[in-house]
Amino acid sequence: MNYQPLKYIYKASRDATANTLLLLHGTGGDENDLLPIAGELGANFNILSLRGNVSEGGMPRFFRRLGMGVFDEQDLVFRTNEMVAFIKELAIREKFDAGKLIALGYSNGANIAGSTLLLYPDFLAGAILYRPMQPFAIIGAGVKTSKRIPVFMSNGTTDPTIDPAATRIYVGTLKNAGFDVTHHSLPTGHNLTRQDLQLSADWYKKEFITLNPA
Ligand code: MLT
Repeated sequence: MNYQPLKYIYKASRDATANTLLLLHGTGGDENDLLPIAGELGANFNILSLRGNVSEGGMPRFFRRLGMGVFDEQDLVFRTNEMVAFIKELAIREKFDAGKLIALGYSNGANIAGSTLLLYPDFLAGAILYRPMQPFAIIGAGVKTSKRIPVFMSNGTTDPTIDPAATRIYVGTLKNAGFDVTHHSLPTGHNLTRQDLQLSADWYKKEFITLNPA
């Protein structure tokens, strides 16, 4: 199968050297969904918001699944490669720095962001993963990032779709791969809450504004 382009929204900030927030929606969403959440993190970044190329009964997704929480890993690898190739091309066309991408993904979008961290450990400069699941059942010990890449994760303790024990394993996997993970277990379900937004906005400010001003 050949790579297909992804539908997207790109909004350039005034500063061409700024970070770019890469927005990745959840199942059934689209490239408009996370724009208000990006606004919670500030304004001094470009925004690249993608729509997943897979349709599940008309609902956009970033990769196929075989059942609830059971991923088609072959498709996930293909779709991750497709997305990364698309972003690299787009960076040239839209003139943003592909080395300053911070993914912000919810649910299915968080899972392709996690897959990107694992398949391309030095590609993203950071990631915000809301309600993620470990994207691959087995992750080789050889997966290592060579940079300091901060990763924010938040899960809900009453989320019926994600087992807290599996989340603890995923956090350990990302840490073993060298990612600097900040993880929050919140007293909520699968939906995003104000607390997710506040904690991730504080994390973003600490990691990307205070420590690394653009
Ligand atoms: C996924 O398929 O990525 C997860 O099950 C989350 C979801 O999108 O429902």
